Amino acid sequence: MVHYLKSSFLMPDVAVDIGTAWIRVTYGTTGLHAVPSLVEGRYALRSGVITDIDAVTAILSPLLKKVWRFGVLPPRAVACIPSDVTPKEQNAVREAVLRSGAANVCIVPEPLAAAIGSGLDVASPFANMILDIGEGVTDCAVIRSGKILDMHAARVGCADLRKALIRTAARHRRHHLDRERAEALLRHIDVGRKDIQAEFGKLKSLAMIQDVPGDEDLYRDALESLIEKILRVAQTVWMRTKPSLGCEIIENGIWLSGGGCLVKGMADRLEEATRIRVHTTVNPLEAVVRGAHAMLPIIAILNCWSAK
Ligand SMILES: Nc1ncnc2c1ncn2[C@@H]1O[C@H](COP(=O)(O)OP(=O)(O)OP(=O)(O)O)[C@@H](O)[C@H]1O
Ligand SMILES: [Mg+2]
Repeated sequence: MVHYLKSSFLMPDVAVDIGTAWIRVTYGTTGLHAVPSLVEGRYALRSGVITDIDAVTAILSPLLKKVWRFGVLPPRAVACIPSDVTPKEQNAVREAVLRSGAANVCIVPEPLAAAIGSGLDVASPFANMILDIGEGVTDCAVIRSGKILDMHAARVGCADLRKALIRTAARHRRHHLDRERAEALLRHIDVGRKDIQAEFGKLKSLAMIQDVPGDEDLYRDALESLIEKILRVAQTVWMRTKPSLGCEIIENGIWLSGGGCLVKGMADRLEEATRIRVHTTVNPLEAVVRGAHAMLPIIAILNCWSAK
């Protein structure tokens, strides 16, 4: 404990989420910085994997620099990785964080951080299930008594949904949709079940989004196979869950985090695919980094850091 108090006073600790769309850093009691994972118009990650360590370092170094104690003591960092990363991909995260100026790093699985950041009691003896739908990765885990019992991920997320919209506009309407308008369209479309929407008169036109040709049906159909791929991540974990654990998950419901859970109708589709109640995290975009931040004290006490 004395070691922890001494080290945490001398070494400020930070949590880092190197995401496909955003790099987020939290420190202290409230500080949170989010910067697009973008350098000179190029993304530093693809499908949750770092493709350009130098670009990540260029984004992360100034963020970590703010946390140096007395301007001379670099922080220790807990960094998150998707649950299916290869050792090479994990090393790239470690290297990027250390090169960005962290003194030590501890790597934790993203779904565990997402669960903690969503306010789940991960130490509970009753199982919880979380699905994080990000920009490039969809990650699912079952957690009980502080341990991940099962996890599964697929390299699919909001970036793929946007690309499908851009492709559809080009192919069926010979129209170029830029990234911003594809994002606006993604936020507008309701991917919930069409028959239910029609029944309740919820089907909308695209009049709200200027210059997007075609109707909502065209774009919703283009998203369908990707939505199914995203839902299959949770279904895969659910199908191989033992009945005793399954009962606990049914009781607690499935928790949904990440930017993808803000796509309209996504929670309904997950509920329909699994027949389990779905809860959406209050702040889904920040759940991972906030959860990683909450893990800092225990990581410091257990001294799980690794240096260069
Ligand atoms: N209100 C919203 N409605 C629909 N989609 C949204 C909304 N807000 C954000 N998103 C989507 O969420 C994406 C970002 O998600 P998130 O921040 O979880 O990704 P990430 O953590 O950077 O990526 P990953 O974890 O996959 O590496 C955005 O690019 C956007 O497409
Ligand atoms: Mg993420």
